Amino acid sequence: MDYSDQYLGEIQIKQNTAISFSHNAFGFGSKRTMQKINPSVDMSHLGCEWMDILQTQCPPDWKALLPSVNLARTDRLLPANSLPVLSYLPEMVELAPSYNQPLIKELIKHRTKLHFNQTYGEDDFGADFLKRYGWIKFLGPDAYWHSDSLSSGLVLLGDNVLYPEHWHEAEELYFPISGSGDWYHENYGWRPKSPGDCIAHESNVKHAVRTSGEPLLLLYIWRGGDLQQKSDYHKR
Ligand SMILES: [Fe+2]
Repeated sequence: MDYSDQYLGEIQIKQNTAISFSHNAFGFGSKRTMQKINPSVDMSHLGCEWMDILQTQCPPDWKALLPSVNLARTDRLLPANSLPVLSYLPEMVELAPSYNQPLIKELIKHRTKLHFNQTYGEDDFGADFLKRYGWIKFLGPDAYWHSDSLSSGLVLLGDNVLYPEHWHEAEELYFPISGSGDWYHENYGWRPKSPGDCIAHESNVKHAVRTSGEPLLLLYIWRGGDLQQKSDYHKR
């Protein structure tokens, strides 16, 4: 099924007007009003770098599920949305292995036109967390490229931040792109991880991530369950 015309049609109607945009990727269900759609971003190179990492690093059972998307044209246009955590991008390039640097350079090149987002608010993990956390979703039910069975994108974490213990129905893989951090899995405890590693979280397993002296850029992919679920966590 070609979703392009449907979604691009929606955007064309809404261009130049205030639109109501549901930023419920990862399940954040509230709505905010976005003022601007910027349709001019060329995401083809960024998409190729992202998909190349998925193709080369996913285990066979995940790789078999990857859709053949048209990387030359996204299925949706999304409004530009910046976040404080983007200030870490230059450091992320310096820390990344050379084979991951093109992806980050594409992010920097287009950062002012891309839709970055956050699942949580201040009431969840506090204001400082929000300065050091964000994500961009490339594939999913509400992402640039459409899928009802997979969700994938990048998570950005600043230095000295704890992404507290949480869990969700979807199975999850993480591939560190730049930087290193410690990962908690309820069955294995805390373990250090860095580029070249694959971190797997089974459905509803409790997990957490923390950084120390350097930021962390991660590629994630979800399958199964509610792909737009907001993760559960222990309320304070
Ligand atoms: Fe997760």
